[in-house]
Amino acid sequence: MRVLLCIFVATFTFNAINGLFFPELGGRQKNTASALSWFPRERRLSPPAHRIIDPVEDCFLVTSDEGEFFFKSPSDEPAVCGIYMIAEPDKRIQVIFNYLDVPCENGGLVAWVDGWELSGQVWPADAWDDDRVVESCDQRPQRKLVSRQNAALIQYRVPARGKGFSVTVRHLRNARPCNLLLFGSEGVYTVRNHGETGNCSVMAVSPATVRILDLNVGQSVKRGNLLEIETGTIYHCTKRGLADYVDIGGANGLDHTKMEVLNNVCGLDSNEGRRPMFIGCENTVVRLVSSGRFQNSVTVAFAPLSVDNIEHADLICGINDV
Ligand SMILES: *[C@@H]1O[C@H](CO)[C@@H](O)[C@H](O)[C@H]1NC(C)=O
Repeated sequence: MRVLLCIFVATFTFNAINGLFFPELGGRQKNTASALSWFPRERRLSPPAHRIIDPVEDCFLVTSDEGEFFFKSPSDEPAVCGIYMIAEPDKRIQVIFNYLDVPCENGGLVAWVDGWELSGQVWPADAWDDDRVVESCDQRPQRKLVSRQNAALIQYRVPARGKGFSVTVRHLRNARPCNLLLFGSEGVYTVRNHGETGNCSVMAVSPATVRILDLNVGQSVKRGNLLEIETGTIYHCTKRGLADYVDIGGANGLDHTKMEVLNNVCGLDSNEGRRPMFIGCENTVVRLVSSGRFQNSVTVAFAPLSVDNIEHADLICGINDV
């Protein structure tokens, strides 16, 4: 795997990210205000975005905005910074480099990452490959860069005063979303494999409660008109040797392949009456693993897990490491 410029920030701070992103998904902001958040800082951006990145304030910038972003280095310091872009779950992110004037000397570099990287972990780790990173200096990438999911990153290190770059960010429709990164932790989301082999996931970057509203995993064969039988929720599917299943749990880091699993389920169950699972981890993960033989889908409701409720969580990540 290509080594990325690594961005390390203090995670698990007590700052909420509500307000900035997707008001339509995160209605009840008073509740989220007390939720733990992974983001150290957020700032409200006012559209239309034509934004000059403040080298001091915005080194770790998380934005759901479209528009033009400019960066001009204030010094010769080799600091690594990032623009963490996120869009709604059914969108992709397109970035066009309008100009790039970053000398390669002293490690000057600008990298497009089709995903997020933080503290040495990447998302989505399942489908990671070297094509996800495009590094440049001296010359701007000529083509449009488009992410496969609703989050992408521009990492940069510009150790040359007055040098910099500019990008235009657009959100494009994604007809077949597989991996979803959520802003805030409230809303109802459906993850599907679209009949394909591989893994899809939804991850909230905060502790959250998760309730399965609808489950159809390992049941609907792709071809044929077999009658579908409501099996109810089947637990411990991996132990039963079933290849299609959903893991629900969390991770302290972006890599959901290292998640701690609270529940492992499959089956056909349209009964909504399940109790929510309380996941006390930096990130909350629902991960759908598919053999490719079935049309799988799982619909889940996320809600914020407040700090007060963390001690009552069904799963607390990292507790076995202590
Ligand atoms: C999907 O997840 C399973 C189980 O974690 C893993 O064995 C498999 O390699 C993953 N598939 C891909 C394409 O990453």
